[in-house]
Amino acid sequence: MNMVNITHSKMNRFNYKAWKKYFIANDRKRLQIDFSREKDLTEVEKKLIFPSIQAFQKGEASNGNFLMRVVEDFAYKNHEEDYIEAMRQFVKEENWHSAYLKKYMDYHDVQSKDSTFLDRCFRRLRQLGGIKCEITVLVTAEIIALTYYDALSRCTASPALKEICAQMLNDELPHIMFQSYTLSHIENGWFDQALRVFL
Ligand SMILES: [Fe+2]
Ligand SMILES: [Fe+2]
Repeated sequence: MNMVNITHSKMNRFNYKAWKKYFIANDRKRLQIDFSREKDLTEVEKKLIFPSIQAFQKGEASNGNFLMRVVEDFAYKNHEEDYIEAMRQFVKEENWHSAYLKKYMDYHDVQSKDSTFLDRCFRRLRQLGGIKCEITVLVTAEIIALTYYDALSRCTASPALKEICAQMLNDELPHIMFQSYTLSHIENGWFDQALRVFL
């Protein structure tokens, strides 16, 4: 595993210290969902949106235990200790996303679901190899999430759900940049390229 010197050139403004600061600052701006204008949803609306919301609520709720082990290993080997706290903050932010969706589900009396088949596939895939595999799968999930929340926001009239989607979009784009930053410093082997094509 090769890591280039990231203290030089244009990458300097995107170092792990800066990412850590970004996540800590973003954590102070957590969403307080406003349900004051929320109306009851019809059964048709519920059937359309909640299966996917339940799946994402579960997917965003990972405790990050396996992820943190490979992150710590990578960070210590490359003398990038700030990466550990940046990633801890990232996991915390994803858990907030899960909490927003759970609040929305609770408001509409919708139960949480056990993990879905797709969620189990993503978790298994992430654990196939070290940090490269983890981050490649993660960034793919982030791109799917970005597209999903954008589509969900456009197809719902619910003010609370629109507010949640706006917060997700605000957070998810930097997530893609954060994971891409790490990938840009790791050499790609045939397995990584094959995994990306597969995903
Ligand atoms: Fe998320
Ligand atoms: Fe994310």
